[in-house]
Amino acid sequence: MFSWFKKKEMETQNTTKIIDENSNIVQVDIHSHLLYGIDDGARSIEITLQLAKEFVEMGYKKMIFTPHIMLDGYKNTPEIILNRLADVKIALAENNIDLEVEAAAEYYLDEGFLKKIRQNEELLSFGKEKYILFETGFRNKPQGLKELIFDLQSSGYKPIWAHPERYYYLHDNRELLDMMLERGVLLQINQVSLVNFYGDACREYAEFLVKEKFVNFIGSDCHSLRYVGAMKDLKKNKIYQKLGELNLLNNSLYLG
Ligand SMILES: [Fe+2]
Repeated sequence: MFSWFKKKEMETQNTTKIIDENSNIVQVDIHSHLLYGIDDGARSIEITLQLAKEFVEMGYKKMIFTPHIMLDGYKNTPEIILNRLADVKIALAENNIDLEVEAAAEYYLDEGFLKKIRQNEELLSFGKEKYILFETGFRNKPQGLKELIFDLQSSGYKPIWAHPERYYYLHDNRELLDMMLERGVLLQINQVSLVNFYGDACREYAEFLVKEKFVNFIGSDCHSLRYVGAMKDLKKNKIYQKLGELNLLNNSLYLG
């Protein structure tokens, strides 16, 4: 009898332990560059498959690939992205990699993006909420952020600000952060920021966003195997438990 109670007690203790190294905090990744050959992410189908396998092993069930779209760089179109997605889907099935995949984009705030929105071009969004992932340059505060948010929301999209912790112009501009939050912009941090992948300043700002519970999504922003290594390191880090206290929306995108 005693041992039965003892066993029950131990099971209870185990369930109160939030996350261990063998489980994953989210099942859906919403930001990555695994579609090979169309941006600065995976360079070949072999690398795409290798990375996809790693994500499955880490506990992911679904990934939304988000290649860059930017005027001065990667001029990807929905057609290019969706064609590449179709190739990757076939390769995943042929290699028995059990991972649900979709594609959207990481839109860079530039004239091209603003024009697409104003001309009512269909953007690559995800989820029934029509989430749009967007980024800006890292150093200087971009012009037109407010207008961008207004235009996206007026067109029925829900903007997600990719990796706010990477924007140096934001680190000492609380007013700007509040403006974005008040307008309902959702925040996605890169989980690797928390293990110093981009340096102290980005890590500290990511920690601040986690502490204040301003984070709505976490993402891998995975471009290569280096990111996978950093994600595994994060699982051993104390702050990983803190992520479990956030109301993350990642898993709402997985229907099972
Ligand atoms: Fe990215």
